[in-house]
Amino acid sequence: MCGIFGYIGNQNNAAESTLEGLKLLEYRGYDSWGIAVKDGKNIIVEKHVGKIGQAKTSLPKSSLGIGHTRWATHGGVTVENSHPHLDCRKEIAVIHNGIIENFKDLKNELLAKNHIFLSETDTEILPHLIEEYLKTEEFSSAVRDAFNRLKGLNAVVVAYSPSEEIIAAKTGSPLVVGLGVNEFYVASDVSGIINHTRRILFVEDNQMVILGKKLKLISLSSGDEIQPVFNDIDWKFEQSDKGDFKHFFMKEVSEQPKVVKNIALNYKAESEKLADLIDKAFGTFMLGCGTASYAALAGTYLFSRIAKKHINFSIGSEFMYLEDYLTQKSLIIPISQSGETIDVVEPVAKALKKGAKIAAIINVLGSTLYRQADYKFLLGAGPEKAVVGTKSFIAMIAMLILTAYTLAKKQSKGKDLLIKSAENIENILKVDFIEKIKIIADDLKNKEHIYIIGRGLSYATAVEATLKIKETSCIHAEGFAGGELKHGVIALIEKGTPCIVFAPNDETYDDIISNAEEINARGGFIIGIGPKNNDVFDRFLQTDDIGEATMIPQVVISQILAYQLALKRGIEDPDKPRNLAKSVTVK
Ligand code: G6P
Repeated sequence: MCGIFGYIGNQNNAAESTLEGLKLLEYRGYDSWGIAVKDGKNIIVEKHVGKIGQAKTSLPKSSLGIGHTRWATHGGVTVENSHPHLDCRKEIAVIHNGIIENFKDLKNELLAKNHIFLSETDTEILPHLIEEYLKTEEFSSAVRDAFNRLKGLNAVVVAYSPSEEIIAAKTGSPLVVGLGVNEFYVASDVSGIINHTRRILFVEDNQMVILGKKLKLISLSSGDEIQPVFNDIDWKFEQSDKGDFKHFFMKEVSEQPKVVKNIALNYKAESEKLADLIDKAFGTFMLGCGTASYAALAGTYLFSRIAKKHINFSIGSEFMYLEDYLTQKSLIIPISQSGETIDVVEPVAKALKKGAKIAAIINVLGSTLYRQADYKFLLGAGPEKAVVGTKSFIAMIAMLILTAYTLAKKQSKGKDLLIKSAENIENILKVDFIEKIKIIADDLKNKEHIYIIGRGLSYATAVEATLKIKETSCIHAEGFAGGELKHGVIALIEKGTPCIVFAPNDETYDDIISNAEEINARGGFIIGIGPKNNDVFDRFLQTDDIGEATMIPQVVISQILAYQLALKRGIEDPDKPRNLAKSVTVK
């Protein structure tokens, strides 16, 4: 959610470096972007609406630059609202990730002092506030005093034209500093600077870092200097390109057999460790957001059914309202592709304060959750570039299935099911199967609403399939438990209303078919997905019958359906759906 990048050092290509850094961080937001460089005693700014793509910069040569790629919170997607923002004298440039919760009060205060605002953003108050403090203070204390007035979880980088320093500060959103030879980089995450240096300082909340000829780390609350601890990162950051694929989306979907097999074959120790933690915990909670929340939801069904173990489920943003009864014996399992989602990071920080143990299931090494967790379980799915989660979700489900079977002392069965599911995905990826999905995409492409039902584990499948369709094709889809149909949603079914029914060969089959009959009786158009066909289905896509792992091919079919719907509806870039971001670091 907003990418931040800054450079200061002995090279004079700050603008180009910043632009390249922003391209690596664009997954964090792609509404608009902008760069400011110091040119002699002036700050020069370039801003654009839209994605960076192959953009080049026309800014002058400089040894100091800051840049930002935006995901709008306050104010529409316009050039004026894109960052960097400046003060009245155009000497102070600020880039920002987060939400300044008290910005209205601060703006009124500054308006009363005749400051002139050019944007609708919360961010713009900060350069003006710093401008006020600079009347009586030097640069670093002005930034500190101004930043300390902000409420909310924020990360900022500030440049000031008379100064040879840039200053970064944070209370919430991620910020890392890279130490080069006579130069410093600052970015929202390590992937933005790893090409330049592997010597990294993770800026913690309530810290401010001054970067110039040297680095100075300061406590925001006391103003005292803190000894910085650098990490020499030896992580491999795999680069990813589209290869022969038109979009990352389908490239990542097609990697799923490999991702599932990797977990089946190489995660014996990880699944044993996680199973042991769950076994010993007194109260286990799985939480996540978006796609990852549906993996957590699936986890409750998987552990109950396979391992006879109760797991509590919560959406990340709701968990802090459930944390009152956490104890030191509680186990929290945050699940997240990015490891940065603030709605997971924040409740995990609170749980840590209560002494609960954290066992994080994540895909990104070195992310905030990775560093917060007592136990770290990396999914090994490789970089996921499409904003819509595909292979990371399947990796989460594979990890949960293997762990549940391990806890039930049937690890080899879990492994077998996963291998079979990988083989089933390989079949689904073949041209003739995709052609069948395309026929259904033709049926659905002009519909306004799609309803999706499942029961038990397939309820989690249904809501995940729903999210894929919403995010990728922008068709309204609603997923719900089959039993809920008659409690309201049935009022919306009329002749031709499309309804996808997940019907695995398990204890839910008969009841979900009854629900399909209820839809059929009202003229609904029914697409069945599962191992067994049924007369009630108007269309049918067959998966193998692989126990709980049937969920995996069912989800893969819905991923491809969502992608085909996007193509048929002329969605410009299915990798970057409108209004979304891959990493959501604001509340
Ligand atoms: C954003 C993305 C979703 C994703 C969610 C959780 O909202 O648009 O696709 O599922 O974040 O992301 P995480 O990185 O925590 O799995």
